[in-house]
Amino acid sequence: MLQSYEARQRIALVGTGHRGTGMWGTELMSRMGPQLDLVGLCDLNEMRAHRSQNIIGTNAPVFTDFDAMLREVRPQTVMVCTQDDSHDELIVRSLEAGVDVITEKPMCTTAAKARRILDAEKRTGRKVNVAFNYRYAPFGAKLKELLLSGVIGEIVSVDFHWYLNTRHGSDYFRRWHAYERNSGTLFVHKATHHFDLLNWYIASDPKEVFARGQLRHYGHNGPFRGPRCKICPHKDECNFYMDISADPRLEALYEDPSREDGYVRDACVFREDIDIYDTMSASLTYENGVQVSYSLNACMPIEGHHLAFNGRKGRLEIRHRETQPFAIPEYDEILVMPNFGEAERIRIPREHGGHFGGDKRLQAMLFDPNMPDPLHQRAGARAGALSVLCGVASVESVKTNRPVAIAAQLD
Ligand SMILES: NC(=O)c1ccc[n+]([C@@H]2O[C@H](COP(=O)([O-])OP(=O)(O)OC[C@H]3O[C@@H](n4cnc5c(N)ncnc54)[C@H](O)[C@@H]3O)[C@@H](O)[C@H]2O)c1
Repeated sequence: MLQSYEARQRIALVGTGHRGTGMWGTELMSRMGPQLDLVGLCDLNEMRAHRSQNIIGTNAPVFTDFDAMLREVRPQTVMVCTQDDSHDELIVRSLEAGVDVITEKPMCTTAAKARRILDAEKRTGRKVNVAFNYRYAPFGAKLKELLLSGVIGEIVSVDFHWYLNTRHGSDYFRRWHAYERNSGTLFVHKATHHFDLLNWYIASDPKEVFARGQLRHYGHNGPFRGPRCKICPHKDECNFYMDISADPRLEALYEDPSREDGYVRDACVFREDIDIYDTMSASLTYENGVQVSYSLNACMPIEGHHLAFNGRKGRLEIRHRETQPFAIPEYDEILVMPNFGEAERIRIPREHGGHFGGDKRLQAMLFDPNMPDPLHQRAGARAGALSVLCGVASVESVKTNRPVAIAAQLD
């Protein structure tokens, strides 16, 4: 008994918002509690950290000073789950304190921050893992397996289009994500998932991107605006009205704690100063010659993605639907279509749980270094950096109307 307690890995969480409290709090501890010892929680907002402590049901002490937490509770691994632009600082301070890191995506928000993390990892000999959960979703793993099997031959081009519905897409415009300085825009904050999938599937470095981005729905496009939904005079006429009291967990984590730092969870999606795009497209090339056509739209009646690999011998295709308006299928379907010969449908049963079962597999793999990884699903700092750079270069391309180099920014 004592032996198994001593073998438990000491973990600490920084960033006790919705994602930290859920994925890296209640869900992680309910799945892997016997193997893990949650020894500290840290957030700049003390009330939110205490609410999180209650929700997780842990006695782990609460800190507002990150360095004090590292010093006093001596974790072996820190899970970084804060606002995106703060990740690099917390990652580097952890590495320098001799602590390994699991960071939420995006790993960081600029090329300089990515280089700083890679340097710190090399200098300290500690390890950064990036929580790219889509790599672990069953349909994602199956696609990777099919690509590795050579069924469509060498990949020539990829079509990848991601759709966020009005409920999910608008949520990024309510909070800190809506400003480039915090999130790097959705080209970094959201597309880091998609660029990572591309980099992983294509198994080559992204070379260059030409991108377009516009704000066509939210921000200055709004017909009216208010300070926040809770007290908005337009709540009866606004399609984006959000009632924070409808979700007790959101209310507990954000409503009273907002008095400490002014961070409200239901700010107006039509704020005039929003400076990110809701409509994005990009054309990428890879070192191995693959061409990619990508888009991300954040105000759609559908949620999901369409992805196709066009190879020298055939095409692999998935149309993944996540939510309404139509009934959600029981299974995902991958079409394998040889250029000449019979096509095949591969059905993959849907799983419950975050990211279609991806979240739980990711946690199992990251906390058990001995678990085999034949599909190379574990993602380190270099993968984190390359996916961020795809987004950073896309934003630069939008602003300069020029193609921009990607992987070369790591040199
Ligand atoms: N992989 C996924 O599917 C997924 C889903 C949701 C969120 N995320 C990621 O998780 C992270 C958190 O997202 P969220 O929605 O929970 O955000 P959030 O704003 O709700 O929570 C972030 C918390 O971090 C705290 N914080 C900010 N800077 C800090 C600092 N320097 N030190 C300590 N605390 C700090 C804030 O006070 C806040 O409580 C983001 O990076 C986001 O991209 C990933």
